[in-house]
Amino acid sequence: MARRKKIYEGKAKTLYEGPEPGTIVQYFKDDATAFNAEKRATIEGKGVLNNMLSEYFMLGLTNIGIPNHFIKRLNMREQLVRACEIVPLEVIVRNYAAGSMAKRLGIEEGMQLPRPVVEYCLKDDKLGDPLVTEEHIAAFGWASQQDMDDILSLALRVNDFLSGVMYGVGIRLVDFKIEIGRVYDGDYQRLIVADEISPDSCRLWDIETGQKLDKDVFRRDLGSLTDAYTEVARRLGVMPKANVSASKPTLIN
Ligand code: TMP
Ligand code: ASP
Repeated sequence: MARRKKIYEGKAKTLYEGPEPGTIVQYFKDDATAFNAEKRATIEGKGVLNNMLSEYFMLGLTNIGIPNHFIKRLNMREQLVRACEIVPLEVIVRNYAAGSMAKRLGIEEGMQLPRPVVEYCLKDDKLGDPLVTEEHIAAFGWASQQDMDDILSLALRVNDFLSGVMYGVGIRLVDFKIEIGRVYDGDYQRLIVADEISPDSCRLWDIETGQKLDKDVFRRDLGSLTDAYTEVARRLGVMPKANVSASKPTLIN
């Protein structure tokens, strides 16, 4: 049997050539990294949960007319997506102060921001994804002014959608990161939401208790990451059919 061609291996996903030109198979690994891969672990079932959750969010975006790369889920760990050129920026939207912003500005984590704050980081692991301004983006040609207008609009629409979906299940969307892809339709180019939307790339806090249900559980050693992601999936009604970490037999009383 012919082996399919690996296009790219990232920290949490591997990309393979898809069955049709212009398509890619996105495989979700169980690997988790933090602090630019200084901290690493394999967390059984994470890839399955992120595959299902990213499918759920991307289908939601499609339903409300926000263009994105998702075509269909293929199996428990893989989805078919549209091939695109990734804009070399991490687009972060923040509703509450947390993480690097709280640290940089000396703000207490959890403070509600007066309006959503959008930040851009250069996607460059060697540099640790540094924060950049729109001046840097324009000067170095990473994206045009028209691209930046479109990216801001996509980011704020995704924020409104995700905040609402999460609020509906008792979860606060503190912040998230998206990546943007460029696709060509004939002579025209369009920007679409790409990569993944999952608890790996969001901060999600229970509205009542403040419990963290995202990758900070791993970054800060707060307990079981699989339990946290499973809780998000359960509340959204996105539970994988099979047991995601059925490695050991369990006794049923
Ligand atoms: P930060 O507060 O660490 O800058 O993170 C902001 C948001 O971006 C948070 O929801 C986590 C997400 N994020 C990623 O998806 N990938 C990353 O490499 C980092 C550092 C953050
Ligand atoms: N994606 C990042 C890394 O390991 C970390 C993070 O999400 O905090 O490099």
